[in-house]
Amino acid sequence: MSEDAIPQLSGYSEAELDRAFAAISREVAASAAGLQTPEAVEQFRLQWVGRKQGRLKAISDAWLKSAPASAKKLIGQRFNTLKAEIEQRLDAADSTKHDGAFHADAIDITFPGGRRNPGSEHPLIKTLNELVAIFQRMGYSVGVGPEVETDYYNFESLNFPPGHPARDTQDTLVVANQDRKPLRDRLIMRTHTSPVQIHTMEQQPPPVRIVIPGKVHRNDAADATHSPIFHQLEGLCVDDNITFSDLKGTLDHAMKELFGSSVKTRFFPSFFPFTEPSADVQISCPFCGGKGCRKCKYSGWIELLGCGMVDPSVFGFVAQKQPAYDPKMISGFAFGMGIDRIAMMKYGITDISLMYSGDLRFLEQFA
Ligand code: PHE
Repeated sequence: MSEDAIPQLSGYSEAELDRAFAAISREVAASAAGLQTPEAVEQFRLQWVGRKQGRLKAISDAWLKSAPASAKKLIGQRFNTLKAEIEQRLDAADSTKHDGAFHADAIDITFPGGRRNPGSEHPLIKTLNELVAIFQRMGYSVGVGPEVETDYYNFESLNFPPGHPARDTQDTLVVANQDRKPLRDRLIMRTHTSPVQIHTMEQQPPPVRIVIPGKVHRNDAADATHSPIFHQLEGLCVDDNITFSDLKGTLDHAMKELFGSSVKTRFFPSFFPFTEPSADVQISCPFCGGKGCRKCKYSGWIELLGCGMVDPSVFGFVAQKQPAYDPKMISGFAFGMGIDRIAMMKYGITDISLMYSGDLRFLEQFA
């Protein structure tokens, strides 16, 4: 910014005033010469029309205010002309900015274009989408639910009463400072996607056919096959006359779609508080065809998911809000599978932490 003081006027004749203003006008022209960047324009603006330090204000103070009344009009006219000139220069600089001509000479149109890596689906998301699509083709819709749940939705309404030992199978991460609430209202990170079964049924009367993919949290020590965060796909089907045969047929079909039509399934008795009867499902090893290999630990079978017929007491909890879920009138099945495990199997990934590391050397293999 120019610090030059404003010269004293040596008289008030028109010729003298013209000479003095012309000198200032040359100064304006000189300082407007190199307005190539927004910073330079701002600098120019401050230098000339800045409210406190601007030269225009200084000129007004030095020449106009102290002038005899007879000269004020002559000075004022010239002052306005000068002001208009400065504003014109600012407008001109601004319009070059708006039509994009700033830095025009800095663009080298012969410079080769930058290569953009378009990215690709994460193996987990790829598997999730594939699974969801299989069920959509069977007429299922897709739902979501909250990752922070109350004890009621994560456990109680799924028939895990307070203190029930089955709660210990899902080592739970709890939200701090919940102790003063009744147990059922305390917030926890959901340990499975099954609470979304309850939310879904509370929101709509039967029939229901839905799959719910999502992130779940457990206080498990991380190792090659465990991560405190992983993903599940929940499934729920409720209607008149849904039987265990429907459950078997649905899951058998889904596994054949996912791993190929030669894959077989088998169902073993199991226990979940919210299904009765409950089963664990194994598939014949898609890698060795059931002969036995390293992937299936030489057993020929791989355990992949849990399932069962919806326990009548679960319908009982839901019926408090949706009376149509009367276990005498309807029945249903539910299933849950670990998406990470399925992705690891499909792609031969041996360490689950790779899924969450964001390491490009890993991710680029799926591009
Ligand atoms: N929620 C169970 C789990 O995380 C899996 C499951 C879902 C079992 C639905 C049966 C029915 O272990």
